[in-house]
Amino acid sequence: MIRRLMLALDDRLGTAHFMRKALRKAFPDHWSFMLGEIALYCFVVLLATGTYLGFFFNASSQPLIYKGSYASLHGIPMSAAYASVLRLSLDTRAGLLLRQIHHWAALVFLAAITVHMCRIFFTGAFRRPRELNWIIGLVLLILALGAGFTGYSLPDDLLSGTGLRIAYSVLISVPFVGVDLAFLFFGGAFPTAQTIGRLFFTHVLIVPALIVVAMTLHLGIIWRQKHTQFRGPGRTENNVIGSPLWPNYAMKSVGLLFAVAATVTALGAFFQINPIWLYGPYNPSNVSSPAQPDWYIGWLEGALRLGPSWDWQIFNHTVPAPFFAGVMLPLAFFFLLFVWPFLERAMTHDGEPHQLLDHPSDTPWRTGVGAAVLTFAIVLTLAGSDDVQAKIFGISVETLASLYRIVLLILPVVVGLLTFEFAREVRDRRNASPKADGRVVISRTDSGGFVGQPEENTQRRS
Ligand code: HEM
Repeated sequence: MIRRLMLALDDRLGTAHFMRKALRKAFPDHWSFMLGEIALYCFVVLLATGTYLGFFFNASSQPLIYKGSYASLHGIPMSAAYASVLRLSLDTRAGLLLRQIHHWAALVFLAAITVHMCRIFFTGAFRRPRELNWIIGLVLLILALGAGFTGYSLPDDLLSGTGLRIAYSVLISVPFVGVDLAFLFFGGAFPTAQTIGRLFFTHVLIVPALIVVAMTLHLGIIWRQKHTQFRGPGRTENNVIGSPLWPNYAMKSVGLLFAVAATVTALGAFFQINPIWLYGPYNPSNVSSPAQPDWYIGWLEGALRLGPSWDWQIFNHTVPAPFFAGVMLPLAFFFLLFVWPFLERAMTHDGEPHQLLDHPSDTPWRTGVGAAVLTFAIVLTLAGSDDVQAKIFGISVETLASLYRIVLLILPVVVGLLTFEFAREVRDRRNASPKADGRVVISRTDSGGFVGQPEENTQRRS
C-alpha cells in the first residue's frame, strides 16, 4: 500500500528523486553531534508537559484566601495563580509529576544547549559558512533563557516573586528608558495585577513560537549546508561521512528521543524540584533565605552579588549599581559571542570555508579564551549561591563575596593560560609524532583482529 501511495505521489509530484537523496543524507556518528538533538527533544517534552499544565494553571493575580487541601497554608492570602499551582501539585492527577518533568526538562534543555554551544565553539564549527547558524543558535539560547525565567516566575511563590522583583530592579536601572521599559513589561510599578497574565502569554505563546521559528531556520540551514565532521581517514573538505538518514540515523534519533524523555521523566518522578508549597505565596515584604534561582540564571545572580556598588550621576540622572552587573555584563558577554566568528576571522585572516572540524588542541588560543570565559561564568554561578555556602561553612556572606571577587579576576586568566599551554603541548607532540594522532578509525573483526573502519556512507558536498 505504501509503495502504491509513493508511486502515486511520484507520478504527480516527482518526489522519488528528492526522497531518495534525502533518505541517503549522511549524519556524522560522533557523539557530540547528539547534543543539539538532546536540546531539541527536551523542547518536545517541554511542549507536551507544558500543554497539560496549561489546562490547570490560572494566570491571575486575583487575591484569595486559601482553603484547599494543604492544611499548613489554610487561611493565608495568596494569588489565584499560586493557589492553582498548589491545586495542580497536590490535588490534580499526575499534576505534580508533570510539573516536575517540565521543570527538569527545562534544566536539561539549557544544559544541553550550553554544552552544544561549547562543542560548536571549541571545534570551530561556527566558521564560514556557518556564522549565520551560530547567530541563530545564540538567539535560541537567549529565547531558552527567556522561556526558563518566565516559566519559573509563573507560580507567584515567594522564591520566584523575589526573582521577578530583582529582574524589575535591573530593568529600571537602565538609564533614561528603564522605568518606561519596566512599566511597559510589568504593567506598572511592581508588583502589579497584570504581571502574571503577561508572563503567561509570553511563556506559552510568544517565546515558544519564536523558538519554533528559530529552530526551523537552524535545522533548515544545517540540512542545506550539511554537517561538519571531525578529521579522519577519507574525510575531506568536499565530502561528509556518516550514517544514512534512513534507517540508521532515524532509528538512532528516535531512540535518543525516548532516552531523553525517559531521563527527564525519571528525574521528575524521583527528585523533588521547586516545592512551591514550602516557600509560601509571594509577599513583597518577605524574602526567603537561602534563595537560589535555577542554574542557568546563577551567573546573572552572581554578577549582581559581586558587581561594583557604583552609583554614577550622568546628566543629573543616577545610573545605579545593578545596571553595571545586571545589564552591561550580560550585554558585553552576548556581544562577544555574537561577533566571535567575525573577530576570529579578522584576527586569523582565515576567511576560507571549513567543513572539517578543529580538535580543541589545533587552536590553543581559541581553546584558552573559551576556557577563561567558561571559568568566569562558573565562578559567577558559584558566587550566586554564596549565601548557601556561607551558611554551610559558617563564614559571613561579605567575606565570601570579597573572596569571590578576587577569584573572579584571577582564576579565569590562570585557567586560560594553563589551557593554552596544555593545548599547545598536545598539538606539538601530535605534530612531532603523527602516529600518535589517535584519529584513525579502527573497528574489531569477528575473529578479534582490528581493521580500518569501512566508510559506508559518503556524500559529496555540492
Ligand atoms: C534550542 C537550542 C538549539 C537546538 C535545538 C539546536 C539544535 C542543533 C542540531 C540538532 C544540530 C545538528 C547536530 C549538531 O551539530 O549537534 C545543530 C548544529 C549547529 N548548532 Fe545548534 N541548536 C541549538 C542552539 C545552538 C546554539 C546556542 C548555538 C551557538 C551559539 C548553535 C550553533 C550551531 C551550529 C553552528 C551548528 C552546525 C554545526 C555543525 O554542522 O557542526 N546551536 N544544532
